[in-house]
Amino acid sequence: MKKRRKITPPLLCALKRRGVPIAMVTAYDAEGGRLADEAGIDIILVGDTGAEMMQGHSSTVPATIDGQLMMTRAVSGHVSRALIVGDLPFGAYEFSDEDAVRSAIRLVKEGGADVVKLEGPRPSQVRAITGAGVAVMGHLGLTPQSQTALGGRKVQGRTAAAALQLVAQARELEAAGCFALVFEAVPEPVAEQITRGLAIPTIGIGAGRGCDGQVLVYHDLLGLLDWSPRFAKTYSDLRGQIAAALNQYVADVRLGAG
Ligand code: KIV
Repeated sequence: MKKRRKITPPLLCALKRRGVPIAMVTAYDAEGGRLADEAGIDIILVGDTGAEMMQGHSSTVPATIDGQLMMTRAVSGHVSRALIVGDLPFGAYEFSDEDAVRSAIRLVKEGGADVVKLEGPRPSQVRAITGAGVAVMGHLGLTPQSQTALGGRKVQGRTAAAALQLVAQARELEAAGCFALVFEAVPEPVAEQITRGLAIPTIGIGAGRGCDGQVLVYHDLLGLLDWSPRFAKTYSDLRGQIAAALNQYVADVRLGAG
């Protein structure tokens, strides 16, 4: 079988230059990682959304470094081509650059992540982590770890001033060494304009089609939840299929046919 080339940060920048759209999805366990990798996904994010999708929390705030490590380990053992992004949870990088470096190194060394992601305009932490030899993906716009401070899960960068602030933050993170940026819940023209001005790729979620790639949460993509955000395109109805299978199983057992 032909060996597939491992995705790396420089390769993603090359895809941007060549105009090849980048496909990214979250995964939280071994099978999710394996299936995403086999499907040709370029970037697998072991997101802190695992706190919501896997543990039923109502936000990503309760995610912990130990929880992220457990999921990252499960995914990384079953992925060979996709770039694995370990997500730094709330509280794992804000206090100091040292803390940020320590958490990032744990995700790589103990979790098997290739690179890490952090939320918000934190150039100092980005410089510290990249200085320690770990590549960093930034995340701007709606940053769910600080959603309360942002007034809820709202579109960001709607006013001219807020859009200009996003432009400045994106440039600052690129200069600090980020190899890519996620834009979440940002108006399409703003995300598109910023994307054109950066050498590093942008990956959008609820940010329109002007980014260099798209990211979806695994459970949204597969229709595993009883709701999904308006912007999330659903490619399957796994919730319905699972419910039907479970109902059929219960019926079979009741009939003595299971
Ligand atoms: O944790 C996550 O799943 C994310 C995506 C929504 C980009 O940050």
